[in-house]
Amino acid sequence: LFAGEVDFLKGVVAMSGLPADDRIEVCFAGRSNVGKSSLINAITGRKALARASNTPGRTQEINYFTLGEERYLVDLPGYGYANAPVNVVEKWQALLKQYLSGRASLRRAFVLVDSRHGIKTVDEEIMTLLDKSAVAFQVVLTKADKIKPSQYDGLLAQVREKLAKHPAAYPELVLTSSEKGDGIATLRSIIAGIG
Ligand code: GTP
Ligand code: MG
Repeated sequence: LFAGEVDFLKGVVAMSGLPADDRIEVCFAGRSNVGKSSLINAITGRKALARASNTPGRTQEINYFTLGEERYLVDLPGYGYANAPVNVVEKWQALLKQYLSGRASLRRAFVLVDSRHGIKTVDEEIMTLLDKSAVAFQVVLTKADKIKPSQYDGLLAQVREKLAKHPAAYPELVLTSSEKGDGIATLRSIIAGIG
């Protein structure tokens, strides 16, 4: 699906370290522990490409992965609570916001939302930042295996209601489970189709 190799390129700790913006770029944003890194592993089919862990605040750099010759997939540090010193967290949160509002080649931000929690206030703050920066974003619901199918409708209704206030939001939602594989093929083809 992604012609060529999937690989880790680099971890970036300052805007000056970003690679040249000459590729189609998409990123995974979301609260700490929502499952960003796990989803990168699931869609690339590489179990340990991105480091995932049960400790919120695992990813502390902007991690670049190459998808073939012409795309970058970017794993971001989480926002919200993190198990790390305050000054360190503040530094990466500032970088995250600079990246989300100032990356010319960023075509779409996938905002990951835990299926058990729905959209929280911190998610809305990030969505407002994306609106202001005119960065199109799409919500991906994670950990679908943690809720019952009978809860899907309520979750989707809450998310749709919140998204109605955000002009940069795509209406299409993707329900995923990195653990069980739900929605992974769909998300892969959405990413491959961004041109
Ligand atoms: P930070 O880098 O800390 O912001 O976290 P992250 O968003 O990258 O989350 P990560 O992928 O590290 O996953 C956090 C925890 O959730 C890990 O223990 C994962 O195993 C678990 N997890 C991720 N995706 C799923 C899923 O689809 N289902 C279940 N049941 N657990 C998941
Ligand atoms: Mg991570």
